[in-house]
Amino acid sequence: MDGRQQAQRDATIASYQEGAQEYRAATESGLRSPLADAAGQYARTLSPGARVLEIGSGTGRDARELESLGLSVRRPDITPAFVEMMRADGYTADVLDPLTDDLGGPYDGVWASAVLVHLTREETDVVLRRLATVTRPSGRLFASLKEGDGRRRAQAATCRESASSRTGVLSRCAPR
Ligand SMILES: C[S@@+](CC[C@H](N)C(=O)[O-])C[C@H]1O[C@@H](n2cnc3c(N)ncnc32)[C@H](O)[C@@H]1O
Repeated sequence: MDGRQQAQRDATIASYQEGAQEYRAATESGLRSPLADAAGQYARTLSPGARVLEIGSGTGRDARELESLGLSVRRPDITPAFVEMMRADGYTADVLDPLTDDLGGPYDGVWASAVLVHLTREETDVVLRRLATVTRPSGRLFASLKEGDGRRRAQAATCRESASSRTGVLSRCAPR
């Protein structure tokens, strides 16, 4: 990662750190379609009680929905303010950088909504490989991404998007 990329990454995390409450206020109405539908579809691909790693849990909104659908969700985030928020709500949460930190596991699935958009192409490759190694064979990966061509890492200020601007991708996440 060069100096410019590091600065972009730090700025994005700092923006979430500063705007965590604002982010919560913007998303507290809960999960809406198409993301709510994707969550239901995702849960149906797994057994009740299946263990899911959600990277970038944010406020924990998606984790609550997935748990209401019978899954067991680990809630890490790279932004300490989100981790503190989830803990204040009574949940176990931890600061975790999916690029470098020990991911634990194994998991039956991974949920990554509007998170990979903040990674460079190279970081995305590394993170997806790392996630695959901690996911059981036939586990499920959900990732929501932005539609479009080319590559551009999203900055936090431009990523306060609504669920409807995201594209859900449901695919296998099997170790290589
Ligand atoms: C748009 S929010 C999505 C939060 C939650 N998944 C949701 O859908 O409401 C993006 C999340 O990615 C996290 N994030 C930002 N940069 C990251 C990075 N470089 N690596 C991992 N997570 C990152 C932020 O802390 C934030 O929780």
